[in-house]
Amino acid sequence: MPLVTTRQLLDEAAKGGYGVGAFNVNDMEQIQAIMEAAKETNSPVIIQASRGARKFAQDNYLYHLMLAAAELYPEIPLAMHLDHGNSFETCESAIKLGFTSVMMDGSLKPDGKTPATFEENVEVTRKVVDYAHERGISVEGEIGVLGGIEDGHGAGGSGLDHVTDPDQAVEFAELTGVDSLAIAIGTSHGAYKFTKKPDGSVLKMDLLIAIHKRLPNTHLVMHGSSSVPKDLQDIINQYGGKLKETWGVPVEEIQVGIKNGVRKINVDTDNRLAITGAIRKVFAESPEKFDPRDYLTPARAAMQKVVAQRMTQFGQAGHAGDYTAISIADMAQGYASGALVTKPLVAAK
Ligand code: 13P
Repeated sequence: MPLVTTRQLLDEAAKGGYGVGAFNVNDMEQIQAIMEAAKETNSPVIIQASRGARKFAQDNYLYHLMLAAAELYPEIPLAMHLDHGNSFETCESAIKLGFTSVMMDGSLKPDGKTPATFEENVEVTRKVVDYAHERGISVEGEIGVLGGIEDGHGAGGSGLDHVTDPDQAVEFAELTGVDSLAIAIGTSHGAYKFTKKPDGSVLKMDLLIAIHKRLPNTHLVMHGSSSVPKDLQDIINQYGGKLKETWGVPVEEIQVGIKNGVRKINVDTDNRLAITGAIRKVFAESPEKFDPRDYLTPARAAMQKVVAQRMTQFGQAGHAGDYTAISIADMAQGYASGALVTKPLVAAK
């Protein structure tokens, strides 16, 4: 199957009542792990690359690896997404390269650190939406600001510093016409999200439910959704790592989100933990080894296991064969004709 748009994947997920994991990648082994997990579980999937990943891997390597993935797994609907675009230019260059969807994170200024005003966010997001939709490409916006920092991007601090205001979410969705909306409900990027198992005081599921009630047809996106499992932390620490005690987002909470409009779930840290633990284990147990395949093979397998587990938990497993790809040209036509609705349905308070 050719690369498809996230808009199509998320529309289908909404019909089926499930969520789709969006997994971050920087290299070939991570893409291979995700595709094998997708095949194993028969799942549609979103693979995403941040600005940091594009810099690390270089655009052309990344793009051609993604084309290889689409070629090798024709039965898997696969979208290539830009994670946390910081400006119109970043989104434009991703679209020119061949990404099928982009995130314009206008919640921060182009420095990727300073919170932007609502007006600034609307202006840049609207500009990206106009440019992208004309070319059939999907756009994710963000309202409210996530905590933490990932790949140098983020306001830092707690996920509770700038949670999403439901009224602003409605206004933002109406003014921008985004295909999906990332909201801030207390999560943050990275391993150190919570110092104890999160309860309602730190993870604002009530806010998510309130936003979904107002925007029942808008695809919501949960960032910072790694669960930071204790067993993955333990493997790292058992083999010489020094992770401090920490908690992530429990999968059951994500599943509550999926019942309330969450269609895209971003996961990066859990895979980083799985890879690092597997590599540390080989280094500790077999210090004589020096062939990268000796540690990259178990690392890739460890990531595949986590991804396959998430695909099953998010409900996307079993849905790869539900539909055929809508071409990018037809998506552009759909936006131009108004067939692909971009004005959200807004429910009264
Ligand atoms: P985690 O750090 O929780 O994996 O979040 C990743 C993310 O949200 C990427 O945008």
